[in-house]
Amino acid sequence: MKSIVVKPPASGFELKDVQIHEDNGIRVKILENGICGTDREIVNGQLKSASMPSGYDFLVLGHEAVGQIMEDGNGFKKGEIVMPVNRRGCGKCLNCMLGRPDYCDTGDFLEAGIKGMHGFMREYIYDQPEFLVRVPEDIRNIAIMAQPLSDLEKSLEEVFAVQQRLYWKCRDGTYDCKNAVVIGSGAIGILFSLLLRSRGFNVTVVNRRSASTQELLIFREAGLQYFNSSNGFEELGEMKKFDLAIEASGSDAGILQDILPLLGNNAALGLFGFMRSGTAGLTHEALQDVVYRSIAIVGLINGQKPHFEQAMKDLVSWKHMWPETSGSFITGTINADDIERNRDVLFRKKPGEIKTKIIWQ
Ligand code: BGC
Ligand code: ZN
Ligand code: ZN
Repeated sequence: MKSIVVKPPASGFELKDVQIHEDNGIRVKILENGICGTDREIVNGQLKSASMPSGYDFLVLGHEAVGQIMEDGNGFKKGEIVMPVNRRGCGKCLNCMLGRPDYCDTGDFLEAGIKGMHGFMREYIYDQPEFLVRVPEDIRNIAIMAQPLSDLEKSLEEVFAVQQRLYWKCRDGTYDCKNAVVIGSGAIGILFSLLLRSRGFNVTVVNRRSASTQELLIFREAGLQYFNSSNGFEELGEMKKFDLAIEASGSDAGILQDILPLLGNNAALGLFGFMRSGTAGLTHEALQDVVYRSIAIVGLINGQKPHFEQAMKDLVSWKHMWPETSGSFITGTINADDIERNRDVLFRKKPGEIKTKIIWQ
């Protein structure tokens, strides 16, 4: 079947016919894929964790997919729209056996299109019902956002779990008085900001440039603040202290030096983006401050089925709450057959891109 394949650690990709031995499970026709930063890192030969499934000399790319059930059975009806979960357990550790490979103890988990398991950029897949999440009809055109959003649903759940160490709500029991700062305004930065906003937080989005017209529209509709950090973070730190900071830019590790001073006492710092360069370079004073002010720093990654389901629900509610914002998520589509001709989309992110979809006819 036609697939988009890569051969990590080599860079590049090909659209070609390949044989994949995978015939038990439900047959799902792939309708579309989303492209994310991880795909681009693999295509550019930069992702160390990328690996081919055992017994194959290629890896089908893609971990964001929306598909259609091909036959009745296993609790599904032919024609239903579903999204496959992308990370699978190692089969050895307790967390994986209990359906939480996002906390795999051995590190031997598999990730579709990333690590040891064929991805979803192909005509169809066979999968087990437990890994298929139903897509509400209402959000069919933006449902692809549910995969990245599932990572963030899980991340926020984790932040709340960490912050249960203290009383972290407002007097009225909400999060309406809490300040959050999100570093980065790519797809992840925007989705994380919207998620926090929908839970009540006052959110400031940061990037080191001025906001685009498109971004301004989103910020206005969803009630997000924006801060241009091209001249540093000092001014932001003087404006307010943050209860939560999310690193979603994946830029230089040195950014930690800028983020820590923004935090209030008992704040949490969630690291989501994969830092691409640099060293954190924290002074002993900065680390003393982390201790003295009980700041929690936590790594955030990968959502599982409950988080995909929550992501679907949030997308449905955002569609009504923030129609223009939701309507602007998909910034480009490209036919799978065209992918070779448009090689660029898999190598580089275009300015202004939120999500580019690959469509399978
Ligand atoms: C995916 C996550 C995955 C991570 C690490 C991200 O692009 O959305 O689900 O765990 O990459 O491979
Ligand atoms: Zn991704
Ligand atoms: Zn495991």
